Formats: sequence, structure tokens, C-alpha cells
Amino acid sequence: MKIAIPKERRVHETRIAGTPDTVKRLVGMGLEVVVEAGAGAAASFPDDAFVAAGATIAPDEAAALGAADIVLKVQRPLLGGDDRVDEVALMKPGAVLVGMLQPLQNATDVAAYAKAGIVSFAMELVPRITRAQSMDVLSSQSNLAGYKAVLDATAEFGRAFPMMMTAAGTIPPARVLVMGAGVAGLQAIATARRLGAIVSATDVRYAAKEQVESLGASFLAVDLEAMKAMETKGGYAKEMGEDFAKRQREHVTEALKKIDIVICTALIPGRKAPILITKDMLAALKPGSVVVDLAVEQGGNCEGSKLAKVVTTSGGVKIVGHANVPGRIAVDASQLYGRNLVAFLGLLFDKEKNFKIDTADEIIKATLLTQGGAVVNPQLAATGA
Ligand code: NAI
Repeated sequence: MKIAIPKERRVHETRIAGTPDTVKRLVGMGLEVVVEAGAGAAASFPDDAFVAAGATIAPDEAAALGAADIVLKVQRPLLGGDDRVDEVALMKPGAVLVGMLQPLQNATDVAAYAKAGIVSFAMELVPRITRAQSMDVLSSQSNLAGYKAVLDATAEFGRAFPMMMTAAGTIPPARVLVMGAGVAGLQAIATARRLGAIVSATDVRYAAKEQVESLGASFLAVDLEAMKAMETKGGYAKEMGEDFAKRQREHVTEALKKIDIVICTALIPGRKAPILITKDMLAALKPGSVVVDLAVEQGGNCEGSKLAKVVTTSGGVKIVGHANVPGRIAVDASQLYGRNLVAFLGLLFDKEKNFKIDTADEIIKATLLTQGGAVVNPQLAATGA
């Protein structure tokens, strides 16, 4: 079977859905891989490296996609219009599309895949079960985003992170608050600690307390009993009530007086990100402080954050809203994402190496969006997509 890896065409996207290492693995699985010319350039993977790994190079996207049985993408394909190429139309009916397709937010796109006869899989919907850990794109990308968010903060901060005792005087360590201690937040804590900062963190999940403390950070607890009561079976956060949110704002405002850097990572699946830092709360931060809002693409955790911008408030606080933070560390993000895809493709072939979509497999069932011209995903059916 032929696999195509085209160049990503959405703004701010630098990643690619395969690397020379993952292409080698796909070729080893008996698959033929075609990479669009220049597709890896933004992630520092030249065409030659793909050829050395066993791929062939297609001169353009039409040539790459036209013959492909399976198309590997980072982001969802373009649907055309406004002088943009229609990437869905370039795929042949019956082709399999695998990517971070954001189906819950983009029902029109999912309908277009069905109409075009494309069999599509959304990698964000891989269930968080032990067997699927190697395919967990949310974790692989959030982990890198958490790391990069801290480095992005250092780039905007006019001070050092570690304590330094020099002949000219002592530099105090930076104080970092991480809001949301999921995959990205925990990596942000570890990274900031490695740089010598004093780190605290907050979350609404009770389980996060122990994880935060095990990394050597202190946990800023709002109401441990309420947090215990709100824990969900899947480990995700629920929207807390206004009373909890109000108390959280009071606690955090008090803490912000001593904080230099805030890293915001709080998300609630399928919802707009919660506002955790209001304009009034920003006034508690000293001039020169930095807020990195990793949730900016989901509406933001910090009032006033702007997508793809660094904004400075009248109080001298910088709010960093970089778009596509995993794409800012494109080599590793592509490599880990590519490995997630290789692990996932392993599910689409049976023991005799024949292509087979086994809808009895819970990972396949959860990720399959469209098949046979119809939208078949139960989560989408529930939202009426
Ligand atoms: P996420 O990206 O959905 O959210 C980030 C963090 O923000 C979460 O920790 C969440 O509790 C927190 N948050 C939400 N609202 C908040 C608020 N108002 N104030 C403060 N914090 C708030 O979460 P992520 O990183 O995807 O992790 C979600 C869960 O999945 C965690 O329990 C994690 O341990 C678990 N997980 C399980 C895996 C597995 O079993 N294979 C793999 C990865 C994560």
C-alpha cells in the first residue's frame, strides 16, 4: 500500500507527519512511502534524508495524494475556497486519512470527508488506555509544549531563572506558578525546576497534588474536599462552579504578588478554556513579569492574551500567546507524532499484514470518523455532526 506524507499548509504549522526515522519503520512494515518535495523543510528534514530512509519524493501535493491509499497529516486538510488548494479533493475515494483532525470543533470538515468517500481517523480521540499510550498524540505534543512554554518565558523575562551568587551580588531565583498540572503543566514544572526556579502549581484535580509535589513544586490548593468530589473517572477536569472559581481567583491573586512567571495550561475537554487570570489579577504581578498562555488557541486562560502575539499590559506584564507551541519545537514534535502514527498504523494491519479496519478494536472504534460515505463516530453522532 502507498502512504503519502504531504507538506502541511495551515498557518503556523512547521511539523510533518513523518520523519526519516518513522519512514524507515513504515517501509519496514512493507509499505511504500511518498513524501511531497520540501514537506520536511520547516522541521529540518531534507528530501534527501527521506530518500535515504526509503521514500520516494513527489514533485507536488497532487502527485503525492493522488496515488495514496493512506494519507498521514499533522493538521486537518484544507477544504479549498479563498484560493486555497482543496486537499480533500486531491485524495482518491476510499483513501484513509489519519491526522489531528479536530472533529469535535470541525463538523463541516468531517462531513466533507464522508462525502468524498474518505475513511478518516482523528488521533486526538485515541482513548487514554495503557495499550494506546504509544499513540497518544495529546501527550506527546503537550509534553513538548510544556517544555517550550518555559523557554518562551525565559526569552521574554528580563531576569535569570536560577539563583546566582556572584562577586557583584546575588541574583534571587525566579518564582514560577504553573496553572493546570496535566501533561503540559507537569513538564513545565520539571523544566522550570531544572532551570533553578522556585515552582508552585495549581489544578482542580485532586490527583494533581501528589504529582506536583513529587516534582519538587508546592501545590496551591483551593479546596481539597471540593476537588476530591469533582474527580472524573477518566482523569479529566470538569468545569468547577462559580464559588470554586471565585475562591481560586482570590488564592491566586494573593500568590501572584510573589510570582514572576505564570505558565497557563488549563483545559477542559470539548469546552472553551477557563479564564483563570482576569485583567484585575494581572495588576497583582510586578512589571517585567511574564504570563505564557498555552491555552490561547482554546480561548485562553489569561484575559488579554492574543493568538500569535506577545502583548505588554499597561502594568508592564508580558502576555505570551504563541500559536502552535509544539510546532516551535518541530523536529522533536514531528518525531514523536510520527512515532504515534506508526504505532497507530500497526492496528490497521492484521497478522498476515493485510489492511483491515477492525471496528471491534476500541482504539479504532473511538478514532474512526467516516467510512463508506457516512459519519460513523459515536461521539460525533452524539453532537449531531
Ligand atoms: P488537559 O490538557 O485537558 O488539561 C490540562 C490541565 O488543566 C488538567 O490537569 C486539568 O485538570 C487542568 N485544569 C482544568 N481546569 C482548571 C482550572 N479551572 N484550574 C486549574 N487547572 C485546571 O489535561 P491533560 O494534560 O490532557 O491530562 C488530563 C488527564 O489525563 C490527567 O489526569 C492525566 O494524568 C491523564 N493522562 C492519562 C494518560 C494515560 O492514562 N495514558 C496519558 C496522559 C494523560
